[in-house]
Amino acid sequence: MINHENGVFLLHNEHISLMLRVNAYGLLEQLHFGGPVTMADAAAMTVCRTLGWGSSVLLDDKDAGSCADEMSLAWSGSGRGDYRESPLELAGKSTDFRFKNYRIIDGIVPMEGGLPQAKGDARTLEIVMEQTDLRLRLYFTLFDTAITRRCVLENIGEGAVTVQKFMSSLMDLPGNYEMTTFDGGWIAEMRKHTVPVLDSRVVNESVTGASSNRHNPGFLLSEVGATEDSGRVYGFNLVYSGNHYAGVQRSLQGLSRVVQGISPSNFAKKLQPGQCFETPEAVMSWSDEGFGGLSRKMHDFVNRHIVPEYWQYKLRPVLYNDWEGCMFDFNQRILLGLAKKARDLGCELFVLDDGWFGKRNDDRAGLGDYTVNKKKLPSGLKGLSDRIHAMGMEFGLWFEPEAVNVDSDLYRAHPDWALTDAFEPLLGRHQLLLDLTKPEVRDYIVENVSGILDSAGISYVKWDMNRHSIALGEKAHDYILGLYDVLRRIFEPRPQVLLESCSSGGNRFDLGMLCFGPQVWCSDDTDPIERLTIQGGLSYLYPQSTFGAHVSAAPHAQTLRNTPLTTRGNVSFFGCLGYELDLNHLLPVEETEIKAQTEFYKKYRKVFQFGTFRRTENGWQVSDGDTTLAGVFYVCRPAAPGYDYLRVKGLQKEKVYQFRTRPQFHRIGQFGSLVKHVAPVALNPNGFILRTADKHITLPDGEHSGTASGSALTAGIPMLPAYRGTGYDKQQRTQLDFGSTLYVIE
Ligand code: GLA
Repeated sequence: MINHENGVFLLHNEHISLMLRVNAYGLLEQLHFGGPVTMADAAAMTVCRTLGWGSSVLLDDKDAGSCADEMSLAWSGSGRGDYRESPLELAGKSTDFRFKNYRIIDGIVPMEGGLPQAKGDARTLEIVMEQTDLRLRLYFTLFDTAITRRCVLENIGEGAVTVQKFMSSLMDLPGNYEMTTFDGGWIAEMRKHTVPVLDSRVVNESVTGASSNRHNPGFLLSEVGATEDSGRVYGFNLVYSGNHYAGVQRSLQGLSRVVQGISPSNFAKKLQPGQCFETPEAVMSWSDEGFGGLSRKMHDFVNRHIVPEYWQYKLRPVLYNDWEGCMFDFNQRILLGLAKKARDLGCELFVLDDGWFGKRNDDRAGLGDYTVNKKKLPSGLKGLSDRIHAMGMEFGLWFEPEAVNVDSDLYRAHPDWALTDAFEPLLGRHQLLLDLTKPEVRDYIVENVSGILDSAGISYVKWDMNRHSIALGEKAHDYILGLYDVLRRIFEPRPQVLLESCSSGGNRFDLGMLCFGPQVWCSDDTDPIERLTIQGGLSYLYPQSTFGAHVSAAPHAQTLRNTPLTTRGNVSFFGCLGYELDLNHLLPVEETEIKAQTEFYKKYRKVFQFGTFRRTENGWQVSDGDTTLAGVFYVCRPAAPGYDYLRVKGLQKEKVYQFRTRPQFHRIGQFGSLVKHVAPVALNPNGFILRTADKHITLPDGEHSGTASGSALTAGIPMLPAYRGTGYDKQQRTQLDFGSTLYVIE
């Protein structure tokens, strides 16, 4: 609902509210953002300013309370007395917008220039502000669990203006906060960092041309002392895949100013008379149930209003991807062999990754070309796809359409299509980017990718992009608009194609890409223990339905860590499950385990992908109200472990639940020479007998089941005792380092 009374605007529903007021000077004040309040609260929530303040500059010399610098604002100017961070900077020009009029609109207001945006049931408040030569339209859209904001600037004057900085949103929040950001790099995405918000500005920014693995655009502000389940937490994000910026700074009055939008670094957009410029959409939400409460609101918002409608709450297939198993070294025979094995293990979609086109036998050649490599695939993509379909699986394909290798037919024909600057080209992963601001480049990509999709019954696309850009400021923004144009033209007519975007893993995990495809490949780091950090970090802002999460080989390619197959499965279950390893090297016991994993996952996949997610003291849980699945994960086990407890959140206290562990097994081989202490005959750990036994025999790992009330499970029930050096016992959890247990509570 959006109401207006006496210059006060209230956007509110049962979850969230935003109260704005046009003050006597036509400036837009923010009286409140957070939990529900009513119109009757407006007066009480307004700061009473009657006194001046030392060196401050006043809007009206006769009114000591007219200092913009002290106001709690929802928009502000430059050079007009508010010396906090300005949301809009024009080259050599002050800005001083005053309220003109407003409209309340049923639904969203569509973007004018090609940026993606949240959709679905909503109401929008448009506030128009003006100064002599410029008009500013501020859009506030109320969804059920979040509010979005964006702006459009229109040049209504006679001369050109240059926009150097234009934020999507500005707000002043009273109180002391800590800011949590998610930072990292390649194979190290989403590491959570928290710093206090004090008087110096804290900035979260990307300038790599992408939303980036360095600094995800999403961030949190939490009141000091907030925990996972209590306290006020605000969440912010941006529906944008390019360079982004957020600045947070506390004022002397104790207002924390929060701005977010496109990065102003090197930005300079000239607006001729009559021209407009619109910002991406900023997203904000709030919870007084701690970080967990905020995450659940953000998840709901992404699932309902960001991902393409066709894929909302639609179950995702269990996939097999050949990349980590084969890299560039495959042919049709090898792929069909893998597909058959994958099918028998329970996979439903076979994805052919990099290396199927041009002269692409390593990453130095072929990008930009779309001719199928007939040496590897003699019957073409269609021939391969037909055979995979005949096996009862769907077929998916990898593309990296935004890039070009110098050693490619495309580059030889159109060297001018590459994105360049005044200097020597800089390669990244031996490749250049194509200049997506050029219409002919976009047409080339759209025609080729669409043609291939239609020619070979492809139902899944992995859209990769493997280098940082060299484009700056406005050019970098235009590139992203070009990318959105290409994605829209390819995928809008083919909504049934499941698009998983990827950029060296999680280099573009953002709400912009999620508007076109419902999944993102979280990271090239598939080590499950690392994934606890990566998927754990993502879980603050993105739902598990958006995570591409695969079981890969152990020892792991990036860490050499030897994690049990059970844990590799248990971690990947909390996302869209896939397998990405050479299936020809699986032992019979591993095949049995993978079959059990895919069966288990399929039974509960709706809960894993769309259930309510909660972070617990020792892992993650998901729930649909009837079934809760709780994963408990360990990193390093001590020699003398204490008791471990299972504490489940979100249960009904009175209700009685049945709980049981998903059956898990241990390989005999992992006990090495210790086996000789329990075997009746002396056995060589590296000898034939034990090596053979290791392939075929497993030992059960502490199966635990029972009934307990919601209260007991909330308080915590002791899990089976963990291994403590006194021998194997199936009544105990023989938890190794990197072990895990998965409970089903029904
Ligand atoms: C990137 C992706 C990987 C894989 C390779 C192929 O690194 O993140 O998953 O697709 O490219 O070259």
